[in-house]
Amino acid sequence: MKLLVTGGLGFIGSNFVRLMLAKKRNVRIVNLDVKTYAGNPENLKGMAGAARHRWVKGDIADAKIVDRVMTGVDAVVHFAAESHVDRSIHDAGAFLKTNVIGTQVLLDSAKRHGIGRFVHVSTDEVYGSVAKGQSKEDDALLPNSPYAASKAASDLMARAYHVTHKLPVIVTRCSNNFGPYQFPEKALPVMITNWIDGIPFPLYGDGKNIRDWIHVLDHCRAIELVLRKGVPGEIYNVGGTASLSNKRLVEGVRKIMGVDRSLITPVADRLGHDRRYAVNCSKLYRLGFKHATTFDKALASTVAWYRENEAWWRPLKSKSGYKRYYKRNYKGLGKR
Ligand code: NAD
Ligand code: DAU
Repeated sequence: MKLLVTGGLGFIGSNFVRLMLAKKRNVRIVNLDVKTYAGNPENLKGMAGAARHRWVKGDIADAKIVDRVMTGVDAVVHFAAESHVDRSIHDAGAFLKTNVIGTQVLLDSAKRHGIGRFVHVSTDEVYGSVAKGQSKEDDALLPNSPYAASKAASDLMARAYHVTHKLPVIVTRCSNNFGPYQFPEKALPVMITNWIDGIPFPLYGDGKNIRDWIHVLDHCRAIELVLRKGVPGEIYNVGGTASLSNKRLVEGVRKIMGVDRSLITPVADRLGHDRRYAVNCSKLYRLGFKHATTFDKALASTVAWYRENEAWWRPLKSKSGYKRYYKRNYKGLGKR
């Protein structure tokens, strides 16, 4: 089977590429990734089955390149995106270009090539903040951040191509991922790498926002299952096993790392900060999904991974672009 994976140099995409090549001997992967600040060939270094993988450097919004890599492909798994909420608050332009236009270009090309399956990797953020209960796949979409709005637009475009053109699209909506190779801009890798260096973690607002945490390999296993067994035209929520306030998450990591409370700095809140996400995953469980990892074990192994892989994250944090981003994002938030 020949797979086109987009965004396979990123956090989840690279974990998916590694998993598929290691577990499925008959899979070949073309990986279309333009290598933004978040794309990193180091994420695929030393992987099993590397000979069955080819990285093509290119933009998913570039119809020519997309058409070229689509040739002979059996299925598409589409991860490529601008993925960070904070960056979308500073500048939403790239989010619209990649997440909306890029997705439409891919869908068009997949239609022309008669692709057998197209998994669109969406997010639980499309539902917006849920005060109580859990979001179900047919709930209304009420995205709040520019990132979430761009993902909702692409999610609906994927659905439209199924309804209008009968393209066999399946959409997944996953909660917060954590694990190896996550770019140190998201909460957990910022926290862990800052604390390795004795630098405080800036905790937004009152720290009571709730996220549902899933290990990245469980997310990748869910995508593999949906690719095999999911029903075209359907949407599958993918949730984790730990629904935690940020305060509780911070405490959990603090205990594992043995750092002092003074290394938590409460800062002003993220603009438009969604209070709580929670997804109902009955549909995914009915396909036969079971989480393979427990949250506590996965969190401890993630902390260990960042401790053992300073050579992976230090170069990323020392780049001038990262330093500029960090300053801009946290500057002026001040202590709460
Ligand atoms: P990431 O930012 O780590 O990686 C994104 C990858 O896409 C990078 O390799 C980047 O180079 C590539 N890319 C960006 N723009 C591109 C373009 N125009 N053309 C080609 N490649 C491009 O993101 P991630 O955290 O791995 O997220 C992957 C996908 O999963 C995204 O669609 C995201 O919305 C979704 N998702 C993420 C999470 C999470 O917790 N991280 C949860 C649910 C869903
Ligand atoms: O829910 C799925 C989404 O999870 C994905 O679609 C996104 O791509 C992914 O980035 C993630 O979005 P969040 O905004 O929830 O993740 P982030 O790691 O940025 O933040 C997690 C929580 O921690 C959130 O409530 C904001 C808070 N936070 C984050 C950072 C970066 C802080 O308190 N301090 C920080 O410095």
